[in-house]
Amino acid sequence: MEKNKTKIVVIGVGAVGATTAYTLLLRERADELVLIDANKNKAVGDAIDMNHGLPFLGKTKVWAGDYEDCRGADIIVITAGAAQRQGETRIDLLKRNVGIFESIMTEVLKYNQDGIILIASNPVDIMSYFSWKKSQWPVERIIGSGTLLDSARFRYLIGEELDIDPRSVHAHIIGEHGDSELPLWSLANIAGTRLKLSDEQKEQIFLNTRDAAYEIIQAKGATYYAIALALDRICTAILRDEGAVLNVSTLLKDYHGVSDVYLGVPCIVDRNGVREVLELEITEEEKTLLHRSADKLKGLIQTIDV
Ligand code: NAI
Ligand code: 2OP
Repeated sequence: MEKNKTKIVVIGVGAVGATTAYTLLLRERADELVLIDANKNKAVGDAIDMNHGLPFLGKTKVWAGDYEDCRGADIIVITAGAAQRQGETRIDLLKRNVGIFESIMTEVLKYNQDGIILIASNPVDIMSYFSWKKSQWPVERIIGSGTLLDSARFRYLIGEELDIDPRSVHAHIIGEHGDSELPLWSLANIAGTRLKLSDEQKEQIFLNTRDAAYEIIQAKGATYYAIALALDRICTAILRDEGAVLNVSTLLKDYHGVSDVYLGVPCIVDRNGVREVLELEITEEEKTLLHRSADKLKGLIQTIDV
């Protein structure tokens, strides 16, 4: 591969992986896009299908590859593994996906030592922590999608309630990408002004945010469009060296007293991955909820072999 070419590998071309690859293709994020899946036929079929769209797009090389194709990749996006069925939580996937990640990471690390690994598979904070431990890479280069999706849902729902463009709503969900996540109402604002929402409205918006995946999975079996856009956003921040603030999952080091766990918090993301974690001024109540979220995940990490 020529040095100045951008290469993204997507591992796990199911609902999330295929939609992410298609989003990356539409937005012409990479010169080379490689699809890898345990079900090779799925990756081959998707690659052929996407190639047939190239006359309508720019010049991207897309193919169904093998782990050797991780060589020279700028970003390796991992969306492989079990997904929630109706009634399951993300945590119910833990044991199955640790087993799958054990084999995927072993293969990836044979061929790539200097790229950035971006993880979406659930439970994403623990899968990211596991991958960081397994890789022994600098922590900034193993990133989880974290609460970027949850924060997008939150901003969308606030925007709907107030009839404001969600891009103008500044609001964060932090903590686990899952049931123990928390909303930072103390910092939420529109152009620096406090949100004109009652406590009941706030409670409903948060519940709808936290439980959005359950609602979507019940309706159609999986979520994939918004996460694909979130993953594209992270890839863009990396490839364009943006220094964008995104709520991704990273290792916390004495973050309001929380350490040694991956959680979603606002981070500055650039060409090297997570450049800096932003420590927000949050309330005592929010700190308590953050600790509760961290303790939940730390307890679960004890149950797996890392
Ligand atoms: P899916 O079942 O449609 O796709 C999973 C794909 O992984 C399948 O194509 C399967 O063949 C492949 N796979 C399984 N084992 C593999 C291995 N060892 N090597 C390579 N490929 C392998 O599932 P879906 O809906 O795409 O979800 C994927 C993951 O993403 C799930 O864990 C899900 O919970 C998670 N997810 C995370 C989100 C987030 O915000 N972080 C949002 C939506 C889903
Ligand atoms: C989501 O939040 C299921 O984690 C996935 O859409």
